[in-house]
Amino acid sequence: MSNWQKTNWRSKPRVQMPEYTDQDALQSVEAQLSKYPPLVFAGEARRLKSQLGAAGRGEAFLLQGGDCAESFEQFSADAIRDTFKVMLQMAMVLTYGAKVPVVKVGRMAGQFAKPRSAPTETVNGVELPSYRGDIINELAFTPGSRIPDPKKMLQAYTQAAATLNLIRAFSTGGYADVHQVHAWTLGFTEGEKAESYREMANRITDTLDFMKAAGVTTETAHTLQSVEFYTSHEGLLLEYEEALTRLDSTSGKWLAGSGHMIWIGDRTRQPDGAHVEFCSGVLNPIGLKCGPTTTAEDLKILMQKLNPANEEGKLTLIARFGAGKAGEHLPRLVKAVKEEGANVTWVCDPMHGNTIKSATGYKTRPFESVLREVRDFFGVHQAEGTIPGGVHFEMTGQDVTECTGGVRDVTEEDLSDRYHTACDPRLNASQSLELAFLVAEEVSKLRTRNESRAAI
Ligand code: PEP
Ligand code: CO
Repeated sequence: MSNWQKTNWRSKPRVQMPEYTDQDALQSVEAQLSKYPPLVFAGEARRLKSQLGAAGRGEAFLLQGGDCAESFEQFSADAIRDTFKVMLQMAMVLTYGAKVPVVKVGRMAGQFAKPRSAPTETVNGVELPSYRGDIINELAFTPGSRIPDPKKMLQAYTQAAATLNLIRAFSTGGYADVHQVHAWTLGFTEGEKAESYREMANRITDTLDFMKAAGVTTETAHTLQSVEFYTSHEGLLLEYEEALTRLDSTSGKWLAGSGHMIWIGDRTRQPDGAHVEFCSGVLNPIGLKCGPTTTAEDLKILMQKLNPANEEGKLTLIARFGAGKAGEHLPRLVKAVKEEGANVTWVCDPMHGNTIKSATGYKTRPFESVLREVRDFFGVHQAEGTIPGGVHFEMTGQDVTECTGGVRDVTEEDLSDRYHTACDPRLNASQSLELAFLVAEEVSKLRTRNESRAAI
């Protein structure tokens, strides 16, 4: 939009953002961040957009995943490496099932700000402002910790830069070699309980052996040892987003320099609100969470605002309804998209509609519900003749116990063992990979059905 300015959001109604008390401190942080280099380059965001466009046409498949909330305290090279590693394993299994390239996008290097269901939290009769992510305040339940501190934006920037730097090194420095990634996966399927996944893993082994025999090796094909990996986060804290927005000299358009893809959450998607206003003017691919309360009318307005030129790959609709609910909500939104002739990439987030409180008091998500929502999502697209373009998970490469179920069955009693998330429960490494095998089967079935339909 020609009259778009990165500050326009300031005159729109804002929700879920902190009220900073020290305006001088805020302005000084904004001034400092505005001088820092952007974390991503416009050419990368355009490339991701084109790959998401391919996912929207069924010619690629999006795997988006990572922490619910990145944390300052749990920041470590091992944690970054482990999540990156399990995403590569998942991507390989999904590539095998979908027979198309898998676009890998981390909820990493910027996923710090959290929308909350209530502005305050009460524990033992004491009421304090809610925790809103490490970029805003602190998790500890004390009055001082919950005061929003603008200086945390500088620490978030530093952590995001260091995270992205390590990801870029892993992506091209040999760590992502396809043979190594597959060897890790074989380690998982050797486990007694994971034997049902062994057959697909063996077929991947055969494929790699065949390629080697045919002369396609890491030496001859450099794509076998490097990957493209993108970053994404919810664009919630608009002071941070604005300060990192830069003019792209090649296109004359604005780039949100904080990450490759930015999404709008289910709580901040008001068509006339600040978050939609900000996201409507940047060249990055934009995600939009769609929940049970998203109406067809709002979706039509949002598609118009967020993708006025109807570009492919510009807008990813991330459906998050809850297991058993996609049938009730998704068809009306699919219909709205069809009526508008809008180009969108449909993705399933089977996490946020499936959060429950366990008998032991922990917020959790049953593996079965997560899988069921993915299946529901595929079923609706099959019935509507539209394309399921990808999946969006909250997950970690670490061996946490936050979601129940999976082959290494995490029970409600186990949740207290290694429950480390700063916000929502994540799938652990084993659950993530298992889910990738199951989703790969679904995509593969869908492909076979569509191919036989086309052949008739
Ligand atoms: C999230 O992705 O962490 C989140 C808060 O999602 P939603 O906006 O869909 O609730
Ligand atoms: Co979450």
